[in-house]
Amino acid sequence: MLSTETIQAVQRVADITEVVSDFVTLKKKGQNLWACCPFHHEKTPSFAVNPDKGFYKCFGCDAAGDAIHFIKSIEGLNFVEAVKYLAKKYGIPIQEIASQDDASQLHSLQESAYIVLELAQDYYKACLQKDAEGQRIGLTYYKDRGFDEALIQQFALGYSPNAWQGFYQHACQQGHTDDILVQAGLVVQKAEKIYDRFRGRAMFPIHDLTGRVVAFGARVLRTGTDEPKYINSPENDVYHKGHLLYGLYQAKQKIRQLDHCFLVEGYTDVIALHRAGVPNVVASLGTSLTEAQVQLVRRFTKRVTLLFDGDTAGNKASVRGIDLMLAQGVDLTLVLLPPGEDPDSYARQLGSTAFQAYLQEQAQDFITFRARTTPKNDPAQTAHAVKETLQRIALIPDAVKRAVYIRQCSQLFDIDESLLISEHNRYLQQQAQRTVTQAGPRVGMQLKKQPELAALAQSAASTEVHERESIRLLLKYGHTVMADGKPLYVYLLSELADVEFQTPVYKQILALYQEAVARQQVPDERYFIQHSEEGVQKVAIDLTASPHDVSKVWEERYQICVAREEDDLHKTAFKNVLRLKMRLIHQLMDENRRLLKVSGSSEEEDRLLQVYTSLKESETEVARQLGVVVTS
Ligand code: UTP
Ligand code: MN
Repeated sequence: MLSTETIQAVQRVADITEVVSDFVTLKKKGQNLWACCPFHHEKTPSFAVNPDKGFYKCFGCDAAGDAIHFIKSIEGLNFVEAVKYLAKKYGIPIQEIASQDDASQLHSLQESAYIVLELAQDYYKACLQKDAEGQRIGLTYYKDRGFDEALIQQFALGYSPNAWQGFYQHACQQGHTDDILVQAGLVVQKAEKIYDRFRGRAMFPIHDLTGRVVAFGARVLRTGTDEPKYINSPENDVYHKGHLLYGLYQAKQKIRQLDHCFLVEGYTDVIALHRAGVPNVVASLGTSLTEAQVQLVRRFTKRVTLLFDGDTAGNKASVRGIDLMLAQGVDLTLVLLPPGEDPDSYARQLGSTAFQAYLQEQAQDFITFRARTTPKNDPAQTAHAVKETLQRIALIPDAVKRAVYIRQCSQLFDIDESLLISEHNRYLQQQAQRTVTQAGPRVGMQLKKQPELAALAQSAASTEVHERESIRLLLKYGHTVMADGKPLYVYLLSELADVEFQTPVYKQILALYQEAVARQQVPDERYFIQHSEEGVQKVAIDLTASPHDVSKVWEERYQICVAREEDDLHKTAFKNVLRLKMRLIHQLMDENRRLLKVSGSSEEEDRLLQVYTSLKESETEVARQLGVVVTS
C-alpha cells in the first residue's frame, strides 16, 4: 500500500497544467487553459484546465478530475499506478506501508518479482548487445528480421545465452533468493537442480500498461533441436496473460491518437507492423482473446481491426474474439492475409507503403467478410453463414448499428430484409432472456410500469437538488466569514446536524467535511477535488467548474436563489437549509399518510397521528422562518 505521505506529496507537487501538457497543447483563455479534449474527438476545444484549483473538466464529454485522475484515464492505470507514475515524473520517493496482513505480503512478493524481472530484462539486453554469443546469434537474427536498433530498444529485445545458469548466477550475485526467481518464472527448480528457464533464445519482454516487465516470450534460435519454438513465462502473481496485450505499452499513445488499433497474433507480428510504419498494434498472448483484453483496448479506442492469417481465419478462437468485441461495442473490421502469409512475412514482401495500402483497402466489416468467405451457390453453407451473422448482430449493444447491419446482411446475402429482422429479433429475445435471468429486470422498466415509484423517484430528485445545493454552498463558501464573525460552515454544519442526506455521494461529502472539521482541518474545494474516490471528486469539480449551473431553471423549478449569492450568503444558505428541511418533512408526512392507510390497530393509528401532528408543527415553523427570510 502507498503511504498517505506519498499520495499527499504527489497531490501537492503534481501540477495539473504540466501533467496535462505532456499530452495536449493548452492555450490560455480567461481563467482557464483550453485544449481539444484528449478523451473524445472534437474540433473546437471544450477541455478546460483550472490551474488554481488543480482540476480539468471537459464540457463536451464530461471527463473531469485532478492530476492523478487524468493520468489514470489517459494512461489506463489504476490509482496506485497513477500515483507512482507522477511520483516518478516529479522525483518523489515512494513510501510503501508495510504491514503483516496477507495483502501486503502478496504485495511485497509482487514487488520483489518486478525487481528480478527488470533485472532479467537488463541482463538479456546486455547479453544481446555486449556478449559475443548474443551479437553473433541474437543480433544477427533480429537484423535478419529487419528489426533495427530503434525497434530493439523500443521493445527491449534481448538474448538469453545458451547456458544452464547464466541468469541464475547473475541474480544470485545481486542477492536475490531462489524463491523469488522461481516465483517470477525466470528459473526452474527440479529435484535438487535449479536452472535458467530461457536458454539460447530471442527474448521478448512483456510489459504491463505502466511499462513494467511482467513476463517473457522466448523464441528458439538454434536449428535442429526438438525444443518448442516459443516458450513463455508461466502465469503468477504479476503475470495474468488474459489481462494483458503484447505491445500495448508501446502503442497506447498512438492508438489513442489514431483512434484505431490493429490486433495480431504474436510478438513478431507486432514488431513487424511497427517496422512497416503501423505503430497502433497489439497482440493477445498466445490465447484466444479474453473479455478483459477487449476492455483494455476499449480504454484507448473502440475501433479495432483484426488481422487474420490466411489459415487461421475460420478457427474457433478468432471467432470467439469477434463475438466478444462486438458485444462490447467495438467497431470491428477484419483483414484477411493471403494464404500462407502472416503479417510479418507479408509486410516484408509488399514493403511498407504497399502493405499499409493493403490494410486500408482490405479492411471489411464482419458481415462482408463472412459473405465473401462463404461459397456462392451453396444453400446450406449460406444459410449457416446468415444465421451466424444474425446471431452476431444481436450481440451489438447499439440498436441503430444493428439495423444498419441487418440491411447490409440482406443486401450481401440477397435475402429479404423483413425475414432477417424477424429472425434477428428471435435471437435478440433469446439473449435478453439470458440477461434477465442473470441480472434481474432493469430498473428503468420497473419505474415506467409503476407510476408511484416514478413519483417517488422525482421527489427524491428534488431532494437531491437541495442536498447538492447545500454541498455547493459548503464547498464554495464554507470559509466565508459571516456577519456574526463565524465562517459559514459553522452555521451550515450545525443546521444540517439533524438532517439525514438521502443521496449517497452528498451524504459522504458532508460526513467527510464533518470528520475533517473534527480533526481541526476545515477542508476547501481542493480537498474534495483531490479525493481518491471518483464520485466525490467529480461532484466537487462539477460544483466548482460551473458556478452558475444552479441557473434560472433551477431557480424557477426548485426555488433555489442564486442571484447575487455572495452578497446575501447567509440568507441563501439559510433558505436552502430550510427548503431541505421542508422537503424532508413533506416526505415524512407522505410516508406517515401511507402508513395510516394501511395500519391495522387503533393504537398504531394514535401513534401515527401524534407523529403527524408534530410534523405539521415543524412544517408550520419552517414555513414561518422561510416566510421571514423570503419577505425580509
Ligand atoms: P510464428 O510461428 O510465425 O513465429 O508465430 P515466428 O517467430 O514469426 O517464426 P517464423 O520465423 O515465421 O517461422 C507468430 C507468433 O505466434 C506466437 C508468437 O508470438 C509469434 O510471434 N507463437 C508462435 C507462440 O506464442 N508460440 C508458438 O509456439 C508459435
Ligand atoms: Mn512468423
